[in-house]
Amino acid sequence: DAGKSGYDHYMLKEIHEQPTALRQCLRGRVDELTGTVTLEELDALESSSPVQFVACGTSYHAALFGATLLRDRGVPAQSFLASEYSTDRIPVDPSTLVVGVTQSGETADTMRALREANRAGAETVAVTNTVGSSAARECDHALYIRAGPEIGVAATKTFASQQVALTLLACRLSNGSCHGVIRALRDVPDQVQTVLDTSQATEIAAEYAESDAFFFIGRGYQYPVALEGALKLKEISYRHAEGFAAGELKHGPLALVTEETPVFALVTGDDEQARKTVSNVKEVEARDAPVVAVTDGRTDVERYADHVLEVPASNEIGAAVTANVQLQLLAYWVAHRLGRSIDKPRHLAKSVTVE
Ligand code: G6P
Repeated sequence: DAGKSGYDHYMLKEIHEQPTALRQCLRGRVDELTGTVTLEELDALESSSPVQFVACGTSYHAALFGATLLRDRGVPAQSFLASEYSTDRIPVDPSTLVVGVTQSGETADTMRALREANRAGAETVAVTNTVGSSAARECDHALYIRAGPEIGVAATKTFASQQVALTLLACRLSNGSCHGVIRALRDVPDQVQTVLDTSQATEIAAEYAESDAFFFIGRGYQYPVALEGALKLKEISYRHAEGFAAGELKHGPLALVTEETPVFALVTGDDEQARKTVSNVKEVEARDAPVVAVTDGRTDVERYADHVLEVPASNEIGAAVTANVQLQLLAYWVAHRLGRSIDKPRHLAKSVTVE
């Protein structure tokens, strides 16, 4: 199939397209000298906070990441599953900025949430890959992630592009210098390329493909990545997988941890959060679970791990993008080993237009 450029599946091709997709997302939008982000599409945007994200599936994980970023920069922000947004009657008024994160721009749950926000008088932004989509047309503004077409049902490059686009949005909506963020973003495409060139996910997938269940743990910026790593694996391999906030493991999920359940721990940076996650890793290691550390090597987590999936040293944004790429590759190679229908997993659709 010519469209796959020699790859067995669109998913693997799209995983490898990420450095290019991220460069496209950044092109013309950042100025390293002045430390400013310019998003022409949002020139007319008036509101700035509080921000409410609405999204589904993988896009919801990107929204969680975006809300963390905004809060870190002093902007009140929350993310909601679009399907719960109306059910839960989330307070929204004309001062609220509601951001729909949707690759396709057609997801029914997300469209419903955006329409409700619109009716309540809130300003709305669609963060989408699809020019001319319902979300792009109906929202007050559309910020394009520019990932290019994604054919595989499981979202890969669009998630990375959402992470970067939401980082740009966070810079645009917050006061203060973006120099550090822009410098980090500049390096991310090359860092992703490094992961693609050196990943040992194939070997790790071979070792654990037959496991009973897979757990993923992370804190802070790596918490949404833990959720996304588990979702990707369950979507395409049909193996049981769950992602947890690392600190929640001891409040229940630890009961499921055995020597048959590999735990993938996202440990990047060397701050208190990372050190706490290392403590959580020790807890699972003491229960004989195999541990795979996804790490930049800045803590001693390797001492407690059976294997390491390495990511380049970066700030928390770069680390969240590159760690996720390792987990995409893991999911792909587990599913490949199990002979699954990777580009078209059973029961799933690329775009879900019913509530
Ligand atoms: C479907 C897809 C998921 C996707 C979700 C949201 O369930 O299978 O991969 O994350 O919809 O899609 P959207 O286009 O709104 O990002």
